Amino acid sequence: MLNLAVFISGSGTNLQSIIDGTENGAIDARVALVVSNEPEAYGLVRAKNHDIPTAAVNHRDYKTREEFENALIDALSPHSVDLICLAGFMRVLTPHFLNRYSRKVINIHPALLPSFPGTQGQQDAFDYGVRFTGCTVHFVDDGVDTGPIIIQAVVPVLPDDTKDTLQKRILAQEHIIYPQAIQYIAQGRAEIAGRKVVVRDASPEEFAAVNPPAEILDD
Ligand code: GRF
Repeated sequence: MLNLAVFISGSGTNLQSIIDGTENGAIDARVALVVSNEPEAYGLVRAKNHDIPTAAVNHRDYKTREEFENALIDALSPHSVDLICLAGFMRVLTPHFLNRYSRKVINIHPALLPSFPGTQGQQDAFDYGVRFTGCTVHFVDDGVDTGPIIIQAVVPVLPDDTKDTLQKRILAQEHIIYPQAIQYIAQGRAEIAGRKVVVRDASPEEFAAVNPPAEILDD
């Protein structure tokens, strides 16, 4: 079974959806470790509630990104981790870290990449006035939110939306597509082919706004 490490910085609602997926059988994986760069992140409490080992690696304690990343690598090393899931992790990882975990780091971004990358993606899409936005799960490469896309979900922007109501609508989709993306990898169905991710045997589109369709919703 796939061993996951989930990296967080905050509330950890995506972490919770991943934990729930592993516990209800939607994801054939286990969360072996939760790492936070913020020692007070509520996500660490969520992990402890499920008896999942945690590590708080505070980036402020390290002089350089490389030292911080070495501490992350040390935290991971006892856990035989197969896949690292960034879930609201607010630090950029450099090639020093990523080269060690090549093709084994994925991220969720609250916009439809390649539009609106970066830490303010959700706000930027809202301010721009787009009619549709959404969320993206992608492999992490050396750029910021530039890696091959595994799955995306689209949400409409409604006339009365505030940033908060829009964020809530996007987050609901994040909690569906992130477990789905992990399950594709757990099943060995997601293959990187150049710029693209091919998901083998994806079922016909039942959910038009989710591509590939989220089979997890069938349960
Ligand atoms: C999510 O919107 C995620 O896309 C972004 O940060 C937020 C984290 O939320 N990268 P949570 O901590 O999972 O609740």
